[in-house]
Order: sequence, then structure tokens, then C-alpha cells
Amino acid sequence: QSDVGNDLANILLTEEQLQKRLSEMAGQIDADYEGKDLLLVGVLKGAIMVMADLARHLHSQVQMDWMAVSSYGSGTKSSGVVRILKDLDTDLTGRNVLIVEDIIDSGLTLSWLAQNLRSRGPESVEIAAMLRKPEAAKVDVEVKYVGYDIPNEFVVGYGLDYAEKYRNLPFVGTLAPHVYGG
Ligand code: PRP
Ligand code: MN
Ligand code: MG
Repeated sequence: QSDVGNDLANILLTEEQLQKRLSEMAGQIDADYEGKDLLLVGVLKGAIMVMADLARHLHSQVQMDWMAVSSYGSGTKSSGVVRILKDLDTDLTGRNVLIVEDIIDSGLTLSWLAQNLRSRGPESVEIAAMLRKPEAAKVDVEVKYVGYDIPNEFVVGYGLDYAEKYRNLPFVGTLAPHVYGG
């Protein structure tokens, strides 16, 4: 059994930093949606950790649903092609929707997804993302709640994968060069 610690070059955000920021974001979300129904839409698979932790920091009554979309495949660059692998079970008519994502990289996934969900007759659609890479943006995405802006490096952990690995790390880090097959 190999130790994943050997594959990491650097820890960018610790578990404590992630949880502290999530509890602040949850406080803002609680205040903004006071007296309203809220549907959290988690984007599989990357958003699993953010969704689970953000939801536990919230005091509001929320429902949770999931979509699976993929734009990356197994590589490290966005293909720009978004595919729906699993759609929502919930009718969005009149609902307040908050899309929950792990990361905004090029912005292609969320720009496409927000537009898709807005076409379904919801009351509102907003976005919460744990990480954002401003330098990687190819399209502008309006994000209401952002955890941390990070440099344009390939990061893993806390839901983020490289070839489906490292999602289970409780922190966010960069991979050592030898992992890319160097
Ligand atoms: C990753 C990440 C975001 C998206 C961000 O998902 O979880 O959903 O890419 O990239 P973008 O802003 O350039 O579109 P991925 O397609 O790798 O699927 P996964 O969540 O199942 O890992
Ligand atoms: Mn994803
Ligand atoms: Mg991925």
C-alpha cells in the first residue's frame, strides 16, 4: 500500500483552513436565504466533500440533489466538452438553487451548468465554489460564494482528482512532478 503523502509536492490549503472558510460561507448562505427554501445541487464527483461539509455547517433547512457532469476525463486539462452523466431528480420550477462545486478552473463547466439550470424555471440560481483559479478563466462565471482563489496549478484532494485518485484527501495540495509520469 503506497502512501499518498509521497505523491504530493505541497499542501496548499489545510483541513483547518478549508473548514474555517466553509463555516464563514455557510453563515453568509444562512443569512441570504433566511425564510426561503434552498436546494443545494452538488456537482459529482468533485463536489462531494464541499457538499457534505458545507451542508453540515448550514443551519438552514435545505434539500440536496446531485448532477454528474464531466469535462476533464482523465487528463489535467479541460476538454471544454461538458457531458451530463446524471441529471437531477428534482423539478427546479420556482426553486432557489445553489450549485455547489469544488473548483472553477476555466469556468466552462459552471458557465454551461448555470445556464442549463436557469432554463428550467427556477426562482434563482447561484453558485458556491470552494476554489477558483482566476488566471485560468476562459469564461466569466458569476460566483456568489467563493472559498479561496488559488494559483493556476493542478491541485488535488478534497474531492479533486488526478485520474480518479486523491479525492479522499481532507486537504488540497499540488502533485509531485513524478506522478505525472515524469
Ligand atoms: C472538474 C471540477 C469541476 C470542473 C472545473 O470536474 O470538479 O467540476 O472540472 O473545470 P472548468 O472550470 O475548467 O470547467 P471533472 O470534469 O474533472 O469531473 P469530476 O468532478 O468528476 O472530477
Ligand atoms: Mn467536477
Ligand atoms: Mg476531475
